[in-house]
Parts: sequence; C-alpha cells; structure tokens
Amino acid sequence: MQTAKDLHSWLAEGHAPLSLVPTMGGLHEGHVRLMRLATSNSDGSTVVSLFVNPLQFGPSEDYDRYPRCLQEDLALAASAGVDAVWAPDISEVFPGGPEHCFRLQVPAFLQSHLCGRMRPGHFDGVATVVARLLALVQPDRLILGEKDWQQLTILRRLVADLNLPITLLGVPTVREADGLAMSSRNQYLSPEDRERAVALPRVLQAVRFEDDVTDVRQALITAGLEVEYVERVAPASLQPCGQETAISLLAAAVRCGSTRLIDHVFLMSRAPLVAIDGPAGAGKSTVTRAFAERLGLTYLDTGAMYRSVTWLVQQRKLDPADAVAIESLLIDFKLDLRSLPGGGQQVLVNGEDVSSAIRSPEVTASVSAVAAHRCVRQALTAQQKAMGAKGGLVAEGRDIGTAVFPDADLKVFLTATVSERARRRALDLEQRGFEPPNRQELETQIAERDRMDSSREEAPLVQASDALELVTDGMTIDAVIDELVGLFRARVAEEAWPTPEG
Ligand code: PAF
Repeated sequence: MQTAKDLHSWLAEGHAPLSLVPTMGGLHEGHVRLMRLATSNSDGSTVVSLFVNPLQFGPSEDYDRYPRCLQEDLALAASAGVDAVWAPDISEVFPGGPEHCFRLQVPAFLQSHLCGRMRPGHFDGVATVVARLLALVQPDRLILGEKDWQQLTILRRLVADLNLPITLLGVPTVREADGLAMSSRNQYLSPEDRERAVALPRVLQAVRFEDDVTDVRQALITAGLEVEYVERVAPASLQPCGQETAISLLAAAVRCGSTRLIDHVFLMSRAPLVAIDGPAGAGKSTVTRAFAERLGLTYLDTGAMYRSVTWLVQQRKLDPADAVAIESLLIDFKLDLRSLPGGGQQVLVNGEDVSSAIRSPEVTASVSAVAAHRCVRQALTAQQKAMGAKGGLVAEGRDIGTAVFPDADLKVFLTATVSERARRRALDLEQRGFEPPNRQELETQIAERDRMDSSREEAPLVQASDALELVTDGMTIDAVIDELVGLFRARVAEEAWPTPEG
C-alpha cells in the first residue's frame, strides 16, 4: 500500500485491535522483534509504516543517504507475519508539503538533554510525523524500540498529553552477536569502523552503578570513538541524575567515522520498587496483586499486616486504643506473608492462618485505630523496609510512598470517590457472605475512615508530592492495571526488568 486511500480501504475491512509499527525502513532484526511483538496478539492485525521523515533530519544530516530498500523491507515484513505494509510518499503524509503542515513542539525539558540537545528540531519532527501517522492509521497499539529511549519517552508523553486511546509498548534493544545495537545506520560503517564501533556497547555494559560519567567518556575516547555526549538521566523525566536515583539511564552518542551511533545501559542499585497508596476501598489490593503478577514483582499488602495486628488485639481482648498493651503484644508478634501461586497471599500470625479472619467487618472497624499507634507503625514499617531492601516489590498501603519507600521508582495514589468506594465495598461484602450496611451508612464509615487515616499523627494518609494520582471511578479493573503497567514501563524499561513470559 502506498497512498492514504489504499490505507483507508484496508482499514475499512476492519482490523481491530490494530498495532502500528512505525519505521523509516532499512529494516533489520530489531524491527522484526517489534513486528513479532505486534503479531503475537493473535486477535488483531499489524501494519508497518515505512516512511523516511524529512522533518526529523537536520540540514547536515543523512536524509538523502538514509537506507531506502523497499523490496528487502517488504520481504522482511512478510517474513515477520505482518498484515500490511504502508509505504507512503511525502505528499500522502504531508499534503501540501512538509513546510506547510502544522508541527508539534516537544516541551523543552524533554529535549534539553541527550540527543535532543545535539539535534535541534529532531524530536519535534518525530512527534509531528508520529502524530500524523497515528491520525491516519488510528491504531490501538503503538510499538516502538527501547533503543531510542528518548524518542520512546517523548512519544509516551505525546500519547498521554493528547489523551490518545493508544497503548504504547516498548521492545528491548536487539544486538548483533558482538553487542552492537542494531540500527539501520550500521550499514554506513566501513569494516574498520565496525570493529571500533563495538567499543560503545562494551564500554557501556561494563559501567557499574557507582562509576563516574567522565570515566565512561574517557573510556570511549580511548577506544577511538568521538564522543558527542555521555549522560546519566532519570528514565522518565530525562533530567540529569546521580546515584540518588536507583534506576537511571546512562546514554551515549558517538561518531565512528562518519556514522553517528547511540546506545545506553540502565544502571540499577536494586530491583524496581513500586508504591501504591490510597484510601480504603479504592480497589488497591485487587489491582496491585494483578499488576505485581504481570510484572514478576513480589506483592506486599501492608494493609494485611495492620489487619493482622488488629486481629491479634481482638483475640487477646485488648482495647484498640491501649498503646501500652499493644506495644507489649508486638514483642511476640510473628507475621509471615506467603505468596500463593496465582497471585494470592497467605497471612500467618504466630503460625496461625488468618488470611480470611483479618478481612472481617470487626477487624475493618478497628484497624485504623490500631494502625495509628506509633509502636505499631514503627514495628511494621521496619519489617516492610527490610522486605523491600533489594527491591523487586510492589507495596500497597497508606504511607508506602511517604514513609516506607520514599525512593520508590513509581508512586501511585490510587483513589475513587466515597460513593464509588461504598458501592464496591457493599458488593465485596455481599460476595463474601456478609450483610452490607445501607449505602448511606457505608459512605459515612468510609468518610470517617479517610478522616482518621489522613489526620493521624503518625504517617498519615497523604499523597506523596511525587505520586501520580489515579482516580478509578468508571474504570474497569483491567483498565486500571493497564494504566499502572504503562506508568511503570515509562520508568522501568523492559531491558531493565523484563516482563515474565506467559
Ligand atoms: O524510530 C524511527 O524509526 C522514527 O523516528 C519513527 C518513530 C518511525 C518516526 O519517523
């Protein structure tokens, strides 16, 4: 297909859910990986676009010599099992010419570092063409490579800012046997350049978390590469960072002969940590458990820990307000949380399985009072911090992003209106065989619980300043989980923490 008309006729046949793999041609194994991810969604279709976008090349860049090899590209796309290839002319994408079309402007902070600093106007050109491709193709999914991390990040922001109903998926960099990241521009390398080029991945992959960026630059120069930049940035904000950021992107651009190469590595002081906070009844447990399972993270339900103490307080017939009695109870309080296959969690208090007992309305009624005691919070926070020391965890509660894991890579404040939470709570009680109070009473209880949680002296329920608020009224559980996965992937690449198979 070449014209917009061809594309529209094809789209009119009905191909939802549709995945778009936008490329500039010069296809290689890296693109094949993008196409394979797209086609692995068996109930949909995949279209690949081949378009060398003049807007993203600077005046002295390689627009004229960029590889154009339609026949080879078509063959490779066919072998990857895509449903259609669209290779439009400039006039199809920019009717009236690129100079006469509206252009998008990427916010300055997203392009003031890395390639954006070196290639003025490049990302404006990328954003403009991708917006046009999305408008023409109207896909449900957009598949892009993590190799161009800055491009991926900017396009994620574009999709989010314009509220486009598109899921963006990033695919890890594919490398040659010697480590060189695949790129259409590798074709430009002479045999001698090709030998030198391999120093780029070799140097980057040897970098340790504590290393200094200036040493990396020096190592690249020593290897005979001309360094354009070496920078360490926070993956989602693309702002410079140091070792205070647990997961960072160390990226470099070099010239090897006349060829410009980019590559990066993620530096990690620990596995990812995610904090999900929010008021009672916002559906945190259900979505957090499923989210954790999807990403291969351990699920930590801190609410269950506070409920366990409350359960024991009630067993021992103590007053939930009696801090002194509760403090002594904590001395021989032994809590075990065991992950069950399928994402569930078993809770044991002093060896006794209390998984369902801690969900009773009596425990629900007293948990805020018990959880407000400093001794309780200190004991459980210490236990939670120890569990998360190496990362690899998603913890859900009220003070995770503020008190327990202030350095979490992703913090979400998951909430819903009081009436929506009352509706969900009534449904949940019914399903578990409890008689729900009337809706008005439930709303009053929930509002009162919010008030207690938010006004307690010790670690009150407040949204961390760097947490993202997600209001889940009107969203399905799957939509909330997808949203969380998208937020996670904007911060933690597949390359850094691969999604488990299956
Ligand atoms: O990554 C690319 O190949 C291009 O920048 C893209 C996304 C196809 C836009 O022209």
